[in-house]
Amino acid sequence: MGKKIAIVTGASGGIGKELTKLLIQEEVDEVWAVARNQEKLAALKRELGDKIITISKDLSQTEELISIGKMLEEQKPVIAFLINNAGVARMGNYDDFTIKEIEDSIKINCSALTILCTLCIPYMKRESRILNISSASSFQPLPYLNLYAATKVFERAYSRALNIELKKKGISVTAVCPSWVDTDLLIKEVNGKKVKFPGIVSAEKVAIKALRDAKRGKDMSVCTLYVKYLHILAKLLPQKLIMNMWVKKIEKYI
Ligand SMILES: NC(=O)c1ccc[n+]([C@@H]2O[C@H](COP(=O)([O-])OP(=O)(O)OC[C@H]3O[C@@H](n4cnc5c(N)ncnc54)[C@H](OP(=O)(O)O)[C@@H]3O)[C@@H](O)[C@H]2O)c1
Repeated sequence: MGKKIAIVTGASGGIGKELTKLLIQEEVDEVWAVARNQEKLAALKRELGDKIITISKDLSQTEELISIGKMLEEQKPVIAFLINNAGVARMGNYDDFTIKEIEDSIKINCSALTILCTLCIPYMKRESRILNISSASSFQPLPYLNLYAATKVFERAYSRALNIELKKKGISVTAVCPSWVDTDLLIKEVNGKKVKFPGIVSAEKVAIKALRDAKRGKDMSVCTLYVKYLHILAKLLPQKLIMNMWVKKIEKYI
């Protein structure tokens, strides 16, 4: 039997790095840490040790995803964990985005996640876990975070349905839905104004809860009471009302 591995995309920083730190403590021989930045990946290996296998790939490029599939074909590992965490986000008007930015957002947040699930599932066994890092922004449409929120709706919907499809194989899929997390993804200052992020939490806290929920086979992971509250509000209130409340809160930044 091949070695037992975990795969984490976007392992070079933020939530992905925290999940990688947790995974090296699991019963796996290797953690495949995927991201573009080679220096950050090398630093991660120096920090976390030889279990880390650095894989520098740009997940917006289909051929780079296919090359991960080739590595799997050659090494035939058992994949205990797949964590689709890499993601890009930007706030702005619909017409602030270049065609490349639009394409890259959809490729990284949606296509790469879907392709990696499909490439990895054949190497999974009962009790293997897939964690897809979606967001609380998937709970309703969000004007001015429109493209990002829509990709996160895709991720959550895809993950929850895949979880049902994989039940008979004993593999679980967890859609992780944090609200604001203190990482480099967030722009902390706009026009000299400090941006407020209600309910912000550390990446470590999100990672610990996500892994715990995945091991329990939950199809969704929400980290705090604040996010639970947002989820309930999104179910109870008309989406138009929530969108208007959101626009009021963020209009000073756009
Ligand atoms: N921060 C939040 O408030 C928040 C809230 C909810 C959900 N999330 C989700 O959590 C996930 C992780 O975000 P984060 O906050 O930890 O962000 P982050 O600190 O910016 O990390 C993003 C990671 O994705 C990688 N990445 C970006 N583009 C890539 C590409 N083309 N190919 C390969 N890797 C790529 C980055 O590595 P390289 O730059 O080295 O490629 C980095 O490791 C994302 O899916 C995000 O949507 C974040």
